[in-house]
Amino acid sequence: MQELQHVPVALERCIDLLSPSIEKAIAERGVAVVVDATLGMGGHSKAILAKFPNVRIIGFDRDLTAIEIAKRNIGPLLERLTIVHEVYDQIGSVLEELGIEHIDGALFDLGVSSMQLDDAQRGFAYSQDAPLDMRMDQSQGITAQEVLLTYERGALIRILRAYGDEKFAPRIVDNIIEAREENRLSSTKQLADLIKESIPAPARRTGGNPAKRTFQALRIEVNQELAVLERAIPASMDALVPGGRIVVMAYQSLEDKIVKSFFTKACTSTTPRGLPVELPDTAAKFQFVITGSESATESEILENPRAQSMRLRAIEKVAA
Ligand SMILES: C[S@@+](CC[C@H](N)C(=O)[O-])C[C@H]1O[C@@H](n2cnc3c(N)ncnc32)[C@H](O)[C@@H]1O
Repeated sequence: MQELQHVPVALERCIDLLSPSIEKAIAERGVAVVVDATLGMGGHSKAILAKFPNVRIIGFDRDLTAIEIAKRNIGPLLERLTIVHEVYDQIGSVLEELGIEHIDGALFDLGVSSMQLDDAQRGFAYSQDAPLDMRMDQSQGITAQEVLLTYERGALIRILRAYGDEKFAPRIVDNIIEAREENRLSSTKQLADLIKESIPAPARRTGGNPAKRTFQALRIEVNQELAVLERAIPASMDALVPGGRIVVMAYQSLEDKIVKSFFTKACTSTTPRGLPVELPDTAAKFQFVITGSESATESEILENPRAQSMRLRAIEKVAA
């Protein structure tokens, strides 16, 4: 079983950002409902449950191992946590099934957890040899190996370019196709070595491990990370009550761009310029809680290097 040692990213800041919505709901209705879209090991949920005895959390995770760890970590506070083994874009239907009309807050701590990265067998790490899996939910869906063995050349090139910004995508994909025809593509090490050989020597000397971009691209494709995020953000915005907040931590720019774009649109009025008053139908329904984005603090990055790329964004619903 995994160690429970785990430092949640920007924990205090996330709680500070969600607190006004939680306090308002408790003052008005005696209870607040928060969605933790990415329960992980339960670090953020545990702290919210401990701070607010009148909070109920609906915690999503698509990874059954993470859910087991969260249960052990959260312990006695579990009675106020409803755990849902689902992809977070199912938020609307899950809330409906649970008979919950509105939520007071939503937290997204995107991407894979340190547990998933550290467990070599999951296949997320290019530095460790393992089967090419990369599914966050190992109970269903296609693995990275199936993507590599079955997708056509054009589709693989598009994925490496769009999700990994990989300049050498055609060379890498040609080598993938050669390797798969010769049955030598089943482990992360074989893939990482193949990528290294595909990239010209001068380009290998800059930008870190050359496998990073292809591994990121495959992970995004396997888990459909961008498509589900594009559905989940508006679904959670719809579910919020006025006064409710959404807090999102993104660790790679493609996800952050999606969040930024939804948030900016939601916080922008479409009332025609020159009108003296905002019209209810076209006034912005959200306002920024953080202008732009925030990064992790330097001390936090020292303690947890993964926090380096984190971008934190938050908005509040101001009208139904
Ligand atoms: C960065 S970790 C969250 C860590 C958590 N905040 C904590 O303090 O322990 C992200 C978690 O979200 C899960 N996850 C990522 N994308 C998901 C999705 N689309 N639907 C459901 N769970 C997802 C992953 O399986 C992982 O366990």
